[in-house]
Amino acid sequence: MSTAVRFHDQHGEETESSFRDDVIAGLGRFPKALSPKYFYDERGSLLFDAICRQPEYYLTRTEEGILAAAAEEIAALVGPESLLVELGSGASRKVRLLLEAMRPTRYLGVDISRDFLLQSTRHLAADYPWLEVHAAWADFSQRLHLPAGVDGRRVVAFFPGSSIGNFAPAEAEAFLAELHRALPPGSGVLIGVDLVKDRAILEAAYNDAAGVTAAFNLNLLERMRRELGASVEPGRFRHRAFFDTQASRIEMHLVSECRQTLVLDQQRFEFAPGETLHTENSCKYARDDFQALARRAGYRPRAVWSDDDELFSVHYLAS
Ligand code: AVJ
Repeated sequence: MSTAVRFHDQHGEETESSFRDDVIAGLGRFPKALSPKYFYDERGSLLFDAICRQPEYYLTRTEEGILAAAAEEIAALVGPESLLVELGSGASRKVRLLLEAMRPTRYLGVDISRDFLLQSTRHLAADYPWLEVHAAWADFSQRLHLPAGVDGRRVVAFFPGSSIGNFAPAEAEAFLAELHRALPPGSGVLIGVDLVKDRAILEAAYNDAAGVTAAFNLNLLERMRRELGASVEPGRFRHRAFFDTQASRIEMHLVSECRQTLVLDQQRFEFAPGETLHTENSCKYARDDFQALARRAGYRPRAVWSDDDELFSVHYLAS
């Protein structure tokens, strides 16, 4: 097996214009809002990686502990010779915890950040010479389809990190139902889901003392400047993240510290002092509530693993 990565461009040219259109639409709305998928330019992907190493951000290390401990059990459920598809593969670190136990034939990493995707899949291919490695540059939140010729006896969609939390529950259900349709019969979904817990733990995870999450959030404004030529002063905004118990979600905002105007393509967007741009929701689930959601999306929940402190969960859903 060669260590070359097969690259599939499913993203096309629409990147810059869709960012521009979405920023204009999102700033024109009240309350102002933007999709969290725009966090992940090159710098944003690096900052997210750094978030995952912050002591307050328990999600990553807890999920990795769960995966490492459950790898054999997961492998037994899935069986060998599968196609392992990782959605939002990022640095492709977590999948390494599964590969030796699971022994899939093929791996397909899907990510929105092209260079990051290429770099991490190249490393994966070099480290696992027996594995056929594919990379698809795609926005899987729009629609997922497997590139032609990339199949396996069974498909396992690996969706770690609690990225599903970016969807509202009804959207998460629709997304999982759509994924169900995109996967051949006999497939499964291995998905990481952050659990509801004490507010202090949740809020600390999104307000790390080193300020990495703040930099990640503010990078959105810098990205608007760099890529779209927007006139905006990131120093006049601050990061805010809090847990909304009712909605069971962390909300992230960029709060305007004064009255100011952001200009993009001759359009002026006014911010009142204290007005926010809503940049992210991160929904948290009780274990049973997530299983019920998965059932409504057409799956049979087969197993769920958690850490001793019940901070995080990993579900295996048969399709
Ligand atoms: C990648 C969506 C799972 O919600 O915890 C981390 C993104 N935002 N810190 C999360 C994020 C701020 C992360 N997800």
